[in-house]
Amino acid sequence: MTQSTSPNSPAAAPLTQDELKTQVGLAALRYVVPGEIVGVGTGSTVNKFIDALATIKDQIKGAVSSSLASTERLQAAGITVFDSNAVPRLAVYIDGADEIDGGGNMVKGGGAALTREKIVAAQSERFVCIADESKLVEKLGKFPLPVEVIPMATERIIAQFAAKGGQGKIRLRDGQPLVTDNGQYIVDVTGLEISDPLAFEAEVSQWPGVVTVGVFAFQRAQVCLLGTSSGVRTLTF
Ligand code: 5RP
Repeated sequence: MTQSTSPNSPAAAPLTQDELKTQVGLAALRYVVPGEIVGVGTGSTVNKFIDALATIKDQIKGAVSSSLASTERLQAAGITVFDSNAVPRLAVYIDGADEIDGGGNMVKGGGAALTREKIVAAQSERFVCIADESKLVEKLGKFPLPVEVIPMATERIIAQFAAKGGQGKIRLRDGQPLVTDNGQYIVDVTGLEISDPLAFEAEVSQWPGVVTVGVFAFQRAQVCLLGTSSGVRTLTF
């Protein structure tokens, strides 16, 4: 991993988490290729990026979106949203993360959009992660790992995670299982040791009923723009 920092002005008061997100959302604009379609993730940090993207919307063709929520925000900003099937290759995908390690491996899916996020990341040449500094970890696994599952496989998948030392719980919204944009459930798993993200992702991805596991090692980030109180740190992997 290499890194550089664009410093904030020295006398400035410490930035709030919301301001750090705004800062990296803006910084991500320099990775947007003029005249092209940009891949757009999901979450509160990405919302800041979408707001920044709206200011240069005339310089891009449009976006491929990773969730219904981002599509709505992009369209409200006047940005054309393309079907991912209509766009074979994207130069860049910009998205947040729940955790990122020193190799660019991530845990994602806190916003339940992990499946479409992985799809758009897979069709992109470069993944630029935008996050505040609290997301940088030495080892993945502290944040409950989101896994999108087919509902009829939920209990068996929870048992498979238990055999690995993890405790899985169906994510609820208003007392009912949360249903993703793809009509499936999310299981959040705590207590896991993810020491080899690539091997972990490969293994869990082939369990019957797993739609997507929230470890992004095959689709890891090449760049991370990390919002810190002393400025935006650029990590390259
Ligand atoms: C959504 C995601 C988000 O990128 C992740 O949860 C980070 O979100 P935020 O920027 O709100 O902290 O993976 O499925």
